[in-house]
Amino acid sequence: MNYRIENLIDRKTVENRIKELAKQIEKDYAGEEVYCVGLLKGSVVFLSDLVKEINTPVIIDFMSVSSYGSETVSSGDVKILKDTDLDLRGKHVLIVEDIIDTGLTLEHVIRYFKESKGVKTLKTCTLLSKPERRKVNIDIDYVGFDVPDKFVIGYGLDYDQKYRNLPYIAVVVFE
Ligand code: IMP
Ligand code: MG
Repeated sequence: MNYRIENLIDRKTVENRIKELAKQIEKDYAGEEVYCVGLLKGSVVFLSDLVKEINTPVIIDFMSVSSYGSETVSSGDVKILKDTDLDLRGKHVLIVEDIIDTGLTLEHVIRYFKESKGVKTLKTCTLLSKPERRKVNIDIDYVGFDVPDKFVIGYGLDYDQKYRNLPYIAVVVFE
């Protein structure tokens, strides 16, 4: 399929916003240890920028969940491909995502954490959010940017596994 790429949010704007989020997180956790759990692979670029700006003890862990195909969106059946490595009992956990689209993935991850991890507090942080596409009502504590209902790439987000390394956010426009 033919497509072109259009810039959406430039590098400086993304970097500045990530710094703001980090300062807010730092303030909210006020010297407490924060366990940042990134959802692979999309969150990696955002997470690595974010944690460098948080001046409070940060512990990093990752989890990998399967995304459903577009034809099965309604099932929202999310499988855990890789669970966290660390024992998160009694910890302050911040789930870090690249983008919240329908919200189904995050809803399942939140439920899983609440049912089986015994964390002390659970919050969520995403670089991008597409509010127009939301199918479930979920609370997101930290949002970098709201984006329109378009396919976005860069800063960890891929199109067919490519473009995760773009240092800015762009839109894929199908022609
Ligand atoms: P949700 O469960 O519908 O919220 O989907 C979230 C996941 O779908 C994200 O973690 C991304 O991996 C993927 N996703 C949703 N929208 C986009 C997009 O515009 N570009 C790239 N990946 C996307
Ligand atoms: Mg993802």
